[in-house]
Amino acid sequence: MENNNVQRDGFSSKLGIIAAAAGSAIGLGNIWKFPYITGIYGGAAFILVYLVCIALIGLPVMLSEFVIGRRAQKNAIGSFHKLAPKTPWFATGWLGFAAAFVILSFYGVVAGWTLDYVFKAIMNAFAGQSPEQLGDMFGGLITSSFAPIAWQWVFMAATAAVILGGVKDGIEKYAKILMPLLLVIIFVLDIRAVTLPGASEGISFLFQPDFAKVTPEAVMSALGHAFFSLSLGMGTMITYGSYISKKEDLSVTALQVTIADTGIALLAGLAIFPAVFAFGIEPGAGPGLVFITLPNVFNQMPGGYFFGILFFVLLAVAALTSSISILEVVVAYFAEDLNMDRKKATILATVAITLLGSVQSLSNGMLSHIQIPFLNQGSMNFMDWMVLLSDHMLPVGGLFISLFVGWKMAKGDVVDEVTNGGVLEEKTWTNIYLVLTKYVAPVGIIAVIANMLGFFG
Ligand code: PHE
Repeated sequence: MENNNVQRDGFSSKLGIIAAAAGSAIGLGNIWKFPYITGIYGGAAFILVYLVCIALIGLPVMLSEFVIGRRAQKNAIGSFHKLAPKTPWFATGWLGFAAAFVILSFYGVVAGWTLDYVFKAIMNAFAGQSPEQLGDMFGGLITSSFAPIAWQWVFMAATAAVILGGVKDGIEKYAKILMPLLLVIIFVLDIRAVTLPGASEGISFLFQPDFAKVTPEAVMSALGHAFFSLSLGMGTMITYGSYISKKEDLSVTALQVTIADTGIALLAGLAIFPAVFAFGIEPGAGPGLVFITLPNVFNQMPGGYFFGILFFVLLAVAALTSSISILEVVVAYFAEDLNMDRKKATILATVAITLLGSVQSLSNGMLSHIQIPFLNQGSMNFMDWMVLLSDHMLPVGGLFISLFVGWKMAKGDVVDEVTNGGVLEEKTWTNIYLVLTKYVAPVGIIAVIANMLGFFG
């Protein structure tokens, strides 16, 4: 049912849009995944590949999501119903909705770990612990039944509290507080890290180009990471796009968000690796890097108690502004298309997603004997399975979003949205964008999917 007479909630300022959308993009992915994959896949050479991926695929897909959402003035599913009524395209929205459920369910668990570590850092729990003991500390947390689930529920409750406030008075308001905080913390950590004696080895690990390491696998992980990191392929940016005023330049917004996301990822690497190498520690991968390696680093760093707290607060803040954007995908659909009131929609979505996540949390411990096979990738616990599932869902979602804008929407409508009805003179860029969304992005994404499914061996 349509509520045309009711003013739709939306962002109130340019800064609010950037803070919210960059807040979505900048998350756990930037802080533990990007620095690590950059280090192992050839440093600056990998960064170059990543930049090409975001320029040719990430940026156009983000713009396409904004175009769909702002044109339709609807949530991720409703947008497709509205722009292509009585066609199967709405399935793209459903795929995004499902991805939101999947991603937020595990994201909330990992974010819960970060809250536990904020608490541990404040209690000075890392002090005097050997690397092995720190490893056991982390293993002990994630395999236990109660603590990680309790923290997960605390984190999800905080996410829900922001969403209850709505777009302008919830999402935008908190993004405008949390994103500057995040920036300040990351700069403080960067200055600490690069001024440590022996920091240069970590800087080389991150930035020295080694083109021999840029394997096809590296290229594929650059593209896969671009989707996750820019929050693409599941309708987050469709939903946020629907809250952007008709006066804003969508291309510029997409560019700014992309630059902010990449910039923070690089700054995160600069905060982490110089410190790790300065103390002669082997960098760990994924969660081990932030939850085991870094506490060990903080133990040895002058002022480490303080910087340790700051680091885990940074992670929690980054996770919160991302989880908000994922929950909004689900809540916007419930509220708008199922006519639920926002409060009921938020509670329902949060409880369902959190319960699903709690089962995943248990799959690291009590339920770890349940191993589920995933395509050609062997068997794993439920949580790892869901992570892998989302890795596959986002590029597929991104593919259909590109095809939708490139081939299904009327060209005039797309151009109208990109140029704000001809107000913005962006002829050259509009033409480039149309080629990217019609051909370049779909071909690139199909290559990633084919690789994921094992077609390239
Ligand atoms: N971009 C977020 C990160 O890097 C995660 C995310 C994915 C958020 C998809 C929204 C949608 O951590």
